[in-house]
Amino acid sequence: MAKSKSAYFCQSCGYESPKWMGQCPSCKQWNSFVEEVVNPGSSRAPEWRSSLSPSTTKKRSNKASVIQEIVYSQEQRVVTPDEEFNRVLGGGIVPGSLVLIGGEPGIGKSTLMLQLALSIPQLRTLYISGEESEQQIKMRAERLGERASAECYILTETAMENIFKQVEQIEPNLVVIDSIQTLHASQIESAPGSVSQVRECTAELLRFAKETNTPVMIVGHITKEGAIAGPKVLEHMVDTVLQFEGDRNYVYRILRAVKNRFGSSSELGIYEMQGAGLREVSNPSEIMISQREEAVSGVAVAAMLEGVRPLLIEVQALVSTSAYGTPQRSSTGFDTKRLNMLLAVLEKRFGFRLSAQDVFLNIAGGLRVEDPAIDLAVIASIISSQQDIPLPSNFTFAGEVGLSGEIRAVSRIEQRIQEADKLGFKQIFISKYNTKGLDVKRYQVVVRPMATLEDLFRALFA
Ligand code: TYD
Ligand code: MG
Repeated sequence: MAKSKSAYFCQSCGYESPKWMGQCPSCKQWNSFVEEVVNPGSSRAPEWRSSLSPSTTKKRSNKASVIQEIVYSQEQRVVTPDEEFNRVLGGGIVPGSLVLIGGEPGIGKSTLMLQLALSIPQLRTLYISGEESEQQIKMRAERLGERASAECYILTETAMENIFKQVEQIEPNLVVIDSIQTLHASQIESAPGSVSQVRECTAELLRFAKETNTPVMIVGHITKEGAIAGPKVLEHMVDTVLQFEGDRNYVYRILRAVKNRFGSSSELGIYEMQGAGLREVSNPSEIMISQREEAVSGVAVAAMLEGVRPLLIEVQALVSTSAYGTPQRSSTGFDTKRLNMLLAVLEKRFGFRLSAQDVFLNIAGGLRVEDPAIDLAVIASIISSQQDIPLPSNFTFAGEVGLSGEIRAVSRIEQRIQEADKLGFKQIFISKYNTKGLDVKRYQVVVRPMATLEDLFRALFA
């Protein structure tokens, strides 16, 4: 038997080094190197492959073909009953695809996957858990209600060899792994969850998916920094990376495609975590705006795009006199650096004396927003709170704010206006530079083009 040697791996990015190092030269992480045993025989094909029956192992031709002659059928995707999930994947599950679902602990990855495994009609699904017992999974399944329309098998196992033995027997049409960090392959000597184990197990699952044309869903944990634990190579190996995010204290969850070989990576699905599992939210705008009778100060509605979907969302600001020398700035769901920048613009260009005031900002529903078009609503809510002048609740805003206080154009303005129109808003404030080629007469909502923040303040607070 060949002698096994060891190497040091960065646990955050997978960088390999023969020596221990204090800082990873690749990702600059400190103290992330761990010694792992590298078995020289590990590249050998695992035993399950030779035992797979020929009917399940499709031989791939290794002859070059003319692209026009390659045939595939459109109807191959497995369309699940979960519309949001289909949309994020780009229209359903692609056979033979390897999908990675990342998310913080407790966000609902296991729930989403079990729900999926239980719900696809006429499919034989195999849900493999290395984290929970069969009884726990059964309890969860019961909590999810009577959705078991699929022939769903549950396996609690962490050894790759045993998993593949079961896979061979059951011949599932869909395999779910919860989670990749619990699996171990015997040919690698390091502990489950280490970089080499994660990489090897994923590589085996990838081969299995491609050779048998079975889709495989892998759940992956997320580190404190928000990256999927284990090496970055994991993300390179899989076809699709989905991110399940949201604030655990709120009910809304967003499933986002970060990478997708079979569809757009800007798609996203919205769910609500209920007592009986995750429910799809098909009309998100309606729930993101609080129902209130009278207008209160410090609230503005932004016409946002999440992925390619328009979404109207409420921004709340509270500006109050600071009790201490240094004012507090805090925001949930919005970048604090950007908030500071917007406050600086207000202070420097328009003379609002915010440097002696605390500013708190909150995006409704616990969502995290990256669309720059929210700037205008952020500004409007801050000034509304500072001046204590409520904004009409049927006004909405979509525009990016520049350093000199100019309002800049944002993408897909028609879609935003349409959504505001559909939800019965009366006025939408946008950038003047967004009006080119815009047919405002098509909408009932009044479109108010603005060049600078000064125009906006005059229109709102004069
Ligand atoms: P879980 O799927 O275990 O999260 P993950 O696998 O990402 O760690 O979900 C855990 C949370 O979801 C837990 O705090 C309870 C909540 N939950 C519900 O609110 N309703 C339900 O029906 C289920 C199954 C879980
Ligand atoms: Mg889990």
